[in-house]
Amino acid sequence: MKDAGYEIAVFPGDGTGPEVVREGQRVLAALAESGPAPWHATEYAGGGQYYLRSGREWDPEGQAAAHRADAILLGAVGWPGATLPNGDIAGRALVLGLRESLDLFANVRPCRLYPGVQHRISGEYREVWSPKNVDMVIVRENTEDLYTPARGRLRRADETEVAIDTRIITRKGAERVIRYAFGLARARARGAPGDGVRRVTCVDKSNVMEGCRFFRETFDRVATEFPEIERDYAYVDAFSQWLVRNPERYNVVVATNMMGDIITDLAAVLQGGMGFASGGNIGAGHGMFEPVHGSAPKYAGKNQVNPFATFFALEQMLRWLGGQHQDARLTGPADRLERALAAVLQSGAARTYDQGGTVTTSGAGDLVLRALREEAR
Ligand code: IPM
Ligand code: MN
Repeated sequence: MKDAGYEIAVFPGDGTGPEVVREGQRVLAALAESGPAPWHATEYAGGGQYYLRSGREWDPEGQAAAHRADAILLGAVGWPGATLPNGDIAGRALVLGLRESLDLFANVRPCRLYPGVQHRISGEYREVWSPKNVDMVIVRENTEDLYTPARGRLRRADETEVAIDTRIITRKGAERVIRYAFGLARARARGAPGDGVRRVTCVDKSNVMEGCRFFRETFDRVATEFPEIERDYAYVDAFSQWLVRNPERYNVVVATNMMGDIITDLAAVLQGGMGFASGGNIGAGHGMFEPVHGSAPKYAGKNQVNPFATFFALEQMLRWLGGQHQDARLTGPADRLERALAAVLQSGAARTYDQGGTVTTSGAGDLVLRALREEAR
């Protein structure tokens, strides 16, 4: 527990990032209304738009703050035309860069469908999945695999030109993320929605790839530390259909980086879309939390996008930070926030455009603030 309070470095970033982060800041302030806040959240500039203005990916003060902070909240990065000389997106430093430099090895994406949330399939809103059946966490390795910056081109501009990305799976990298996934299955209050079983599913392509075979072997070894948790296996192609057809089977899922990137976006459809998907990038002493929908340039400045992904990112952040420091001044607000979010969603009053509604970003924020205040009374 830190009496002096926790430092949260906030990067609103690009596009719609600042709009959803603004709502997130109001929610944070409302959570601390009844007493002095045990945290202080400071905003810093960074991202593609900042790069176009300044020639730097982020403000040096922000960079230092990110490395020192107890937690980081990131809006979104990426802006059309904002590209570094080497071809990478400007703002990479804030996402992939921090994953590398802070060693944020686990990318944790909860996927839960809350009552009252609609999901859209081929343009229509339908009740395809039931809230009773969707409640899993996908844990993705976050520092290696095809994301390792070991890549390049040979024979540039020649007709035999080749591009190479190297897939690296290490024992340490696999072990720690798999252990994290099993630890989560142990700590979570609930097992899989279908049968209540605590289960970790290893998603890979070990029928073809060596790295995946190694990942699965590591999975089996780590699993022996958790005899009470069921082990489950799925090839990533088959998993993609089972996830959609039988989401109730899944409790905690663990995957390598690139496959995890793909299946988590697919899973977001089950929870109502990217407007509800939050992600935590978690390392030994650092955590960065984000709505994962990206900067959505088309909607920037329109006060239109769904801020719930940011609210869930805050909930995830407070819960993680509270767990790290055994501090109920953080886990308490995380619980309150989750109850308020669930209540507002259930009421159906906060439907933004992605839900077929007309509620604005700040309008949805207002509803959550009101729910928090009502609960406090
Ligand atoms: C994510 C994103 C990132 C990734 C992008 C922005 C580099 O898609 O967090 O899932 O590929 O990991
Ligand atoms: Mn992604």
